[in-house]
Amino acid sequence: MMLKTIILIGGPMKGTRFRPLSLETPKPLFPVAGFPIIHHHVEACAQVEGMKEVILIGFYQPNDALNRFITQAQQQFKIQIRYLQEYTALGTAGGIYHFRDQILAGNPDYFFLMNADVCGDFPLKEMLQFHTKKPMGTYCTILGTEATRQQSLTYGCIVENKDTHEVMHYVEKPETFISTIINCGIYLCSPALFGPLEVEFKKNLEQNYNCDYTTAPAKEVIRMEQDIFVPLASTGKLYVYHTNKFWSQIKSAGAAIYANRHYLDLYHKSHPERLAKNSVGKPQIRGDVFIHPSAQVHETAVLGPNVTIGKNCVLGEGVRVRDSVILEGAVLQDHCCVLDSIIGWNSQIGVWTRIEGTPNDPNPNKPFAKIETTQTFTNDGKLNPSITVIGSDVQVPSEVIILNSIVLPNKELSGCYKNQIIL
Ligand code: GTP
Repeated sequence: MMLKTIILIGGPMKGTRFRPLSLETPKPLFPVAGFPIIHHHVEACAQVEGMKEVILIGFYQPNDALNRFITQAQQQFKIQIRYLQEYTALGTAGGIYHFRDQILAGNPDYFFLMNADVCGDFPLKEMLQFHTKKPMGTYCTILGTEATRQQSLTYGCIVENKDTHEVMHYVEKPETFISTIINCGIYLCSPALFGPLEVEFKKNLEQNYNCDYTTAPAKEVIRMEQDIFVPLASTGKLYVYHTNKFWSQIKSAGAAIYANRHYLDLYHKSHPERLAKNSVGKPQIRGDVFIHPSAQVHETAVLGPNVTIGKNCVLGEGVRVRDSVILEGAVLQDHCCVLDSIIGWNSQIGVWTRIEGTPNDPNPNKPFAKIETTQTFTNDGKLNPSITVIGSDVQVPSEVIILNSIVLPNKELSGCYKNQIIL
C-alpha cells in the first residue's frame, strides 16, 4: 500500500490567538515537549507502513525555520518531506485541490490529511484499518472524539449511524447543540475525494463568473468542513472513527502547556530516553521533564512535573519550574520560580522572581479537554485568567511577581504585574 500525508500548516494570518509566541516562529513549529508541534505529526505518520511522503501545505513564505525543520525531520524519519506554498489562503480543502497533481503523483492508495493545530496520540494505523473495511468508494474517515455539550459548540459536530459509523449529519460550530462527537481535524482520504472537490471548485468558478469580480471572495477557497463534509453526510461516503486517546486543539499558548504535559506523558511509552531522571549531581526531577542536552541546569534546581527546558537554557541555583515550557536560550537566574507559564526565547528572569499563571483545565482527568477559554477577555472586559506568557527577549528584574500576564517581546519590565497584557 502506498500512502502520503498532507499537513495543513496555515500561514502568517493564522495563529493569532497564539500571539505573542507566533510572532517569532510559525505556530506549527512552536516546540512542545522539546519538538516542533508538527514534528509529532510527522513522527506519527512515519510509523505507518507504506508512508512515502509528507507534504506540508501553507501560505507562509518559505523560511529558514521551515527549511531547517524539513531537513532535520527528513533525516530523522527517513521520509520525503516537501513544502508547497499556496499563493493565498485557499481554505482547508482548496490547497489540496490546487496541489492535487503533486498529491496524486505515484498513485497513493490513501492519504492522511492533518490539521497542524492539533495534538494527540493519533491512531493512524487504526484509522487505516477502519477505512479500508468500509465500502469501496468511501471518500473519507474523520477522526472523532467525545466532548461535553458545551465544548462541542466550538467544533465540527458529527451525528453518526451508531452501527456503521457513517456520518449522517455534519455541522461546523453549531449555534445549538447537535452532538457530542466532534471532528479532531485528522482525516484519512481516498483519492476519490478529489471528485467532490472538483465539483465544488467548478461551482465556485461559475458563481464567481456571474458576479462582480472586484467584490467576490477568492474563487479557489474551499472549506473542507462546510463545503465538503456537510453535503457528503448521509451519502455513504463519509465515516467517523472514534478515539478516546489524548487529543486537543492548540489554539492558544495555554493549550501548548496542555499539549506539553500530554506529549511528555506519551514519552513513557514512545521515547523513555527523552525523560530526565534523578541522579547524583543532577537537578531534582519530579514527574515528567524534558531537558535539552545543551541546557545547563544547576544541581539544586527542582523541575517538574510537566516541564520542558529548551536548547541552551541556563537555570541557576535553587530555581523551581512546574507545568511550564522554557524556550531556547532563556536564562532563569538563581531562586526564581516559574509555574504554569511559557518563557520566551532568550528572555531573562531575575533572581528570586516569581512568574505564575493559572491553568484553566476544566477536565484535568479526561484525555480530551478543551483546555481553557480561548477568549482573552471576559464579557465585562477583564482579562481571563490564563497562563503567563513572557515573549522573546524580555528582561524581568529580580524579586518581582508576574501573575496571569502576557508580556510582548523585547520588553524590559520594572515591577510587578497581575492580570495584564504588557504591550
Ligand atoms: P478556528 O476556530 O477559527 O481557528 O477554526 P478551526 O479550528 O476550524 O481551524 P481552521 O479551519 O482555521 O484551521 C484548521 C487547520 O488548517 C489549521 O492547522 C490551519 O493552520 C489550517 N488552515 C486553515 N486555513 C488554511 C488555508 O487556507 N490553507 C492552509 N494551507 N491551511 C489552512
